[in-house]
Amino acid sequence: MTRLTIMRDGLVRAITPETVVCRCESITRTEVVAEIQAGAASQNAIKSGTRLGMGPCGGKFCGEAAAMLNCAVTGRPRVDLGLPTARPPLRPVPIDALTGDFDYDSLPIPAPAPL
Ligand code: FES
Repeated sequence: MTRLTIMRDGLVRAITPETVVCRCESITRTEVVAEIQAGAASQNAIKSGTRLGMGPCGGKFCGEAAAMLNCAVTGRPRVDLGLPTARPPLRPVPIDALTGDFDYDSLPIPAPAPL
């Protein structure tokens, strides 16, 4: 499976300027390349400048494509770019969802251990 998901050499050249690289955040190749040319040297810098990788998939679909674009634009090897900082997609949750509706008297309380 890993072999199937790795971008083949030269595939990055097939990405047209208007191709959406990050579908969660609707970021095109043009926007990614502009960010790299503006000085975004790392995956995190591209992420900070464009929101690429901040969608619901957390960059699973776009992260490697952005890295390969970075390699193509800068000529740097892929290993030098590293990985972006992973952050789980979190959203605010009302405290009621965590506490629930329960009765303290119905909580199972184990009997104390004999001394
Ligand atoms: S495709 Fe980029 S964050 Fe999901």
